[in-house]
Amino acid sequence: AAAAMAAERGLAMATCTAPVNIAVIKYWGKRDTDLILPINSSLSVTLHQDQLKTTTTAAASRDFTEDRLWLNGKEADVGHPRVQACLREVRRLARKRRGGGEDTAALSLSYKIHIASENNFPTAAGLASSAAGYACLVSALARLYGLEEELSEVARRGSGSACRSMFGGFVQWQRGDRPDGSDSLALQVAPETHWPELRVLVLVVSGEKKPVGSTVGMQTSVETSPLLKHRAEVVVPERLAQMMRHIRERDFEGFGQLAMRDSNQFHATCLDTFPPIFYLTDLSRHIIALAHRYNGHHGHTKVAYTFDAGPNAVIFALADTVAEFVEVVRRSFPPATNGDRFVRGLPVGPAALSPELLAAVVTKPVPGAVQYILHTQPGPGPQLVDDPSQHLLGADGLPWSRA
Ligand code: DP6
Repeated sequence: AAAAMAAERGLAMATCTAPVNIAVIKYWGKRDTDLILPINSSLSVTLHQDQLKTTTTAAASRDFTEDRLWLNGKEADVGHPRVQACLREVRRLARKRRGGGEDTAALSLSYKIHIASENNFPTAAGLASSAAGYACLVSALARLYGLEEELSEVARRGSGSACRSMFGGFVQWQRGDRPDGSDSLALQVAPETHWPELRVLVLVVSGEKKPVGSTVGMQTSVETSPLLKHRAEVVVPERLAQMMRHIRERDFEGFGQLAMRDSNQFHATCLDTFPPIFYLTDLSRHIIALAHRYNGHHGHTKVAYTFDAGPNAVIFALADTVAEFVEVVRRSFPPATNGDRFVRGLPVGPAALSPELLAAVVTKPVPGAVQYILHTQPGPGPQLVDDPSQHLLGADGLPWSRA
């Protein structure tokens, strides 16, 4: 269809959406910074696009005079090395597929392209958007050029964690051994339907931006942290196998324990980095302690936290725990202003907390510290958007003017 459009009007367009993912065995450290090859494998849960997604439209036309990029409505630098790496790799695969032959129906690889991308969540919320962003860019470009192969290897060139957003459900990024990165790809461990009771609560915290970006931070860790070296060589291989088993068996106790331990070890490697990097804040530690008090009160793992290179907490729980734990969070961090929009995403029912639970778990409330809670669940990988009215670029190849 894209090719037909191209021949007819000299303009081809494709739109895709892609999800955010949250790692439960963390990626931290590269062995090749250009190809983005990690020092250890990692494993993540893909979050549902109903709550968090990036939408990207890619267009090519013989009338375009230069490559252009718009992010959330504002023009951005299309020359960014990682954007260029993804573009180059997709075009290389398209060329290879055509075998160098003269396929006159195919979209010309010499046409310039326009790309527009936007998130359905506020960038200011500090939710990892580069993984969804690059997964979406690569998916839309692949559609535009009619590629059908697995493209996690290309998404990886945009951002390491982006390769895991190329699949839904539970996804492993296998570190690979080859120097050219051809075996450093994402594999689906289980689809999003595998564990229907699993829920995810993103606690969006108020406050500052992260001090050090992951790309720079992880390289300092590779250079200075002996703990990171031990983690990559010894700890992660064992944990990866364990985590796969917990997921396969839908064992929340095992899954939750290991997710918390792995998040904590990642942050320990940050402290072991020299000079040290601090991503956890007083509030993160408050949330960690709260989760442990809650689990302690119940006598088993009901909730599990994980934190990336930013201040938001991500909590895993089974569906039957969500209402009670959300009420615990509401009591612990009483909403300052937006009481009615404190819980967003999937509906959360009411819950009454017993005096025993309140006394044991909700110690000293910190008003306003958590901005809101986003309730979501595991979801599918990138999707093609068929409806042309959903394109982010108009027939002129420019973003719709939103008056
Ligand atoms: C802490 O994928 O953002 O979220 O490859 O340099 O783009 P680059 O880094 P990025 O790092 C993510 C680190 C993490 C853990 C994880 O997602 O596995």
